[in-house]
Amino acid sequence: MVKLGINIDHVATLREARRAYMPDPVEAAQACEDAGCDSIVCHLREDRRHIKDADVARLRSIVSTRLNLEMSIAPDIVNFACRIKPDQATLVPEKRLEITTEGGLDVKKNLKKVTAAVSRLKTARIDVSLFIDPSIGQIDASYKAGAGIIELHTGEYANAVSGAARKRELKILEKAAKYALSLGLEVNAGHGLNYENTAAVAGIKGMNELNIGHSVISRAIFVGLDGAVKEMRELIR
Ligand code: PXP
Repeated sequence: MVKLGINIDHVATLREARRAYMPDPVEAAQACEDAGCDSIVCHLREDRRHIKDADVARLRSIVSTRLNLEMSIAPDIVNFACRIKPDQATLVPEKRLEITTEGGLDVKKNLKKVTAAVSRLKTARIDVSLFIDPSIGQIDASYKAGAGIIELHTGEYANAVSGAARKRELKILEKAAKYALSLGLEVNAGHGLNYENTAAVAGIKGMNELNIGHSVISRAIFVGLDGAVKEMRELIR
């Protein structure tokens, strides 16, 4: 059964719109777990625009499924992760001015730095996933870097406007997943997945977990977090 990780960053984004105390992403994480998600995902950005250090520490103490910390390979963030010990760290590229993560981590180009970060996190007994574009070169590099898990970036698939383009992008994801599995990597996917486009990605053979944020938190405005998570869970199972 394909697992569902819920990214709760946008609950903190709403809180930060007023620099207030609510809505609380930790309370949201609890509600997502109660609704049956398999992990909680949050991104501690270098600019701390939504999730803060204290949120991650509080999440660590209440999350009873798995805490997946999205993060860059900046040394202070790696130090923080080694201290807090999420169950998993997902390494992503980060640009100051981006609205959300753009593209996958270029593991091929940054192999030495990524390998060093992976090694430090693994020494702290944290599972490491690399968020990458679905290309054979990036998968090979991820394997070389020592990560046991990859998360395939589904942005191109989600942004495809024509049916033909979407089909093509799905094929690319399928091929990438198959190749990664043949190397013994665990395969996750995420970014831009919603209630219309997720079922096909969930149907990719060997898919382990989908990480979804924006669409579920948006849907929660209308049906509540419990309903939004349950609807997505039904859809991917
Ligand atoms: N996976 C990764 C690595 C991400 O960076 C994000 C966005 O924070 C997601 C999944 C979730 O993307 P979305 O909010 O578009 O569902």
